[in-house]
Amino acid sequence: MKFFLTGSFIAIIILIVLFSYRQNIFSTTALPYDDEQQGLDDQITIHFSHVVAENTPKGAAAEKFKELVEEKSNGKVVVQIYPNGMLYNDENELDALRENKVQMIAPTISKMTGTLPNWQVLDLPFIIENNEQLKLVLNGQISKSLLQELEGINVKGLTFWNNGFKQIASTSPIIDIEQFKGKRIRMMASDILHEQYKLLDAKPIATSFGVVYSDLQQEVVDAQENTISNIYSKQFHTMENQITLSNHGILAYAVMMNKDFWGSLDADIQKIITDSLAEMQDWQFEQAEEFNKEDLLYLKANSDVQIYELDVETKNEWKEKLQPIYSHYENHINEHYLDDLLDEINNRIE
Ligand code: SIN
Repeated sequence: MKFFLTGSFIAIIILIVLFSYRQNIFSTTALPYDDEQQGLDDQITIHFSHVVAENTPKGAAAEKFKELVEEKSNGKVVVQIYPNGMLYNDENELDALRENKVQMIAPTISKMTGTLPNWQVLDLPFIIENNEQLKLVLNGQISKSLLQELEGINVKGLTFWNNGFKQIASTSPIIDIEQFKGKRIRMMASDILHEQYKLLDAKPIATSFGVVYSDLQQEVVDAQENTISNIYSKQFHTMENQITLSNHGILAYAVMMNKDFWGSLDADIQKIITDSLAEMQDWQFEQAEEFNKEDLLYLKANSDVQIYELDVETKNEWKEKLQPIYSHYENHINEHYLDDLLDEINNRIE
């Protein structure tokens, strides 16, 4: 028995030595050069997190940005995209950005209003009425001032992307103003949106985008406001199949980076990023229109979905009911932004 144990022990030692020799563990010479590793030390990775599907205006814009930046930098900058809230959701993506856990996000304007209340100006209903005005405003002076406010929270604001106009999707029709009464309406977390639904006698419920589908399944909400592309890409219409084309508000994205990360980039890389965003800006706005148009056609072709248009008279009733919201913004949030926005829309500011 003693001989057997000693023999086994010696055999194991010999096997370990032979294995280590084959694996070069005792070798003092350097490993051969692997040219796939070349340049990896210099590579810059931008982790870009967002909460919507890839086949949406924001999802497609993130992909386009990646393509342009990687091409212009000859692969020195890599953009890694995490869609569908797979990494961070509405509630934690801004913190993740500020802590540099990701370097880039593009939340909706509404979701920034808790941190920067002035931003509620772009959540006000029935101010921006068509795509030309929307483009003017998102590329204009007010938007620049709003992006500038991000500096105070360690964030570099880069630009705004667009996802068009919000509509009302519900389980039973909401056309006349009285039909809002008592309805539990899912909206993005924004005080002014809360105020809007209070004025309409509804019950506003603020939730993260990631839970809308399950909230609908569990019947804890009766309706929501969103763009057609968000409704269609997440199949919300399978549960909320009554859609009113109200165009009452806009949904836009603030594209932003961690400020320290931005500051650590060489000027030529910063230029590649800003040039890429500038180059794709018109394309992004066209895509937003296109996605919403195409997705509406799919919904119209679906016989289970009812689409309603607001006639002028009904729309005016909505507007009248919502009238106090403008003085609420001016009295409680900011007395200048709304006037500036109206001036900008009326083209009085160059
Ligand atoms: C998004 O478009 O990023 C989400 C919008 C929402 O939360 O409704």
